[in-house]
Order: sequence, then C-alpha cells, then structure tokens
Amino acid sequence: MGTATLARAYDYLLGGSHNFAADRELAKRIVTLMPDARRQARVNRAFLHRAVRFALSVGVRQFLDIGSGIPTVGNVHEIARKVDPGARVAYVDIDPVAVAHSRQILAGNPNATVIREDLCEPRAILGHPDVRGLLDLDQPIALLMVAVLHAVRDERDPYGAVATLKDALAPGSYLVIGHATYESRPDEFHKIMEMTESTTTPLAMRAHAEILRFFEGFELVEPGLVWVPEWRPESPEDVPERPEMSANYGGVGRKP
Ligand SMILES: C[S@@+](CC[C@H](N)C(=O)[O-])C[C@H]1O[C@@H](n2cnc3c(N)ncnc32)[C@H](O)[C@@H]1O
Repeated sequence: MGTATLARAYDYLLGGSHNFAADRELAKRIVTLMPDARRQARVNRAFLHRAVRFALSVGVRQFLDIGSGIPTVGNVHEIARKVDPGARVAYVDIDPVAVAHSRQILAGNPNATVIREDLCEPRAILGHPDVRGLLDLDQPIALLMVAVLHAVRDERDPYGAVATLKDALAPGSYLVIGHATYESRPDEFHKIMEMTESTTTPLAMRAHAEILRFFEGFELVEPGLVWVPEWRPESPEDVPERPEMSANYGGVGRKP
C-alpha cells in the first residue's frame, strides 16, 4: 500500500474513504499546487453524470465505463437505473483496490459488473466473458472514458486502443471523453505531471487538438469539445465564472 494511485487520490479529493496514507499524501500535494483541486474533481464528475443522462435521453441503455475508479459519489449504474432499471453497466479499471470496492458495491446486481483490465488492452476488455455476458455489442453502447486517457502516455498507444474500442461499437453508439489539459493552467499542470512520475499512472495532459483526435470517425454532438462545465449544463450553477479553471475538456461523439 506504499505506492499512491490516482484512483485513490481522486477518491480522497471527492470525499471518499477508499484511500490509504500514500494516496492522501499525493492528493494533499496536488491541493498544495492547485488549491481548488477538490472542486475541479467534482466538476469533472458532474460532467460524467450529465453525459450519462444525455446518453440515456437518446435511448442508450448500455454503458462501458473504462477508468471507472471508485464509485464514491454517484455511480453510472445508479443514474442509469433511475431512468431504466434494465440498463446495463460494465465498469473497467486497472486499479485492483478500485475494482475490489466496486465488486462489493455491485454484489447481487445482475445489471452491472466490474473487471480489472488495462484500457491499452481493448481486445481483452471486449472479449472478457463478464463484459460479453452483460453487453450486446450489436446494440448501441455509451463508451465512457472520463479522466482516464490522461493517465496513458502516447508510448502506450491510447489512440490505437480507443480506435479498436470504437470499431467494435454498433452505429448509434457514443464516445464520452473527459480529459485534462495543461492549456489553461500550464504552470500548475506541468508540476502536477512531474509529481505523478512516481505513481503507477504518470499523467499525460493533452492539448485540445490532441484530445479531438480521439473522436476521429465520430460526429461530435453539440456543443463539441469544450471545458467540462460548459458541456450541456443543467443549471446556471453548473457553469462557474471561469470554466477554463476546470482544466479539463469534455465531449461526446456519435458513431454514424
Ligand atoms: C481520476 S479517476 C476517474 C474516475 C471516473 N472515470 C470519473 O471520472 O469520476 C481515473 C481512473 O482511471 C484508472 N486508470 C488509470 N489508467 C488506467 C488504464 N490504463 N486502464 C484502466 N483504468 C485506468 C485509475 O485507476 C482511476 O481509477
């Protein structure tokens, strides 16, 4: 338990209790550099929730949530179940602790599952019997990758992994991406990137154009790839005075 993980540091920032001393230490160092880190974590999570509600509103009933983390503050399956008790959710995370906690939370739920897998192994995710048993790849799926692609540097080919996942989806499926950028807060974010060198997931913040590339072949729904608080806000409180302070872009694309 000596090595901090991003999943657990994020859980701590969100007010969760599934974290250890090293994770809290990492989270506190992030807060030192970026005093509003807790607020930005919640803003990010709120984008995920709105994107899930959007997918439900256009009829999607299956979700593949990669880099799902520890389902502390609002889970995808809970949001989905309110709209349709039959909606199905497969969670995927690389962190064994996040997966173990998710497994406990999901015990006895026939419409949700969790597997431990690396997003850079898309065929292992798509071919996993638990995923295959729950999701029908011939029907539209919302593929959620929120606050996870910036944990994968280019040398691990995240673009290739996302392309394989997109290819496997049926027309009418959606890709939801939330991704950190250094563009609006360069000094803080370069320091945070350096700080994560010693964790299991060193960060790879990207520029707007680089994040847009993940959507290749998909049609971005309005308002496109924007600061996360600006993506289809549901109330005036969703949009802070300076949305760029979120330092995260969010967008949703549809497979034609
Ligand atoms: C910041 S959390 C985001 C959680 C959730 N998606 C959200 O937006 O609230 C990032 C998660 O991605 C997971 N992760 C990092 N690299 C991953 C990889 N290569 N494959 C799968 N999951 C990964 C981490 O373990 C962590 O749980």
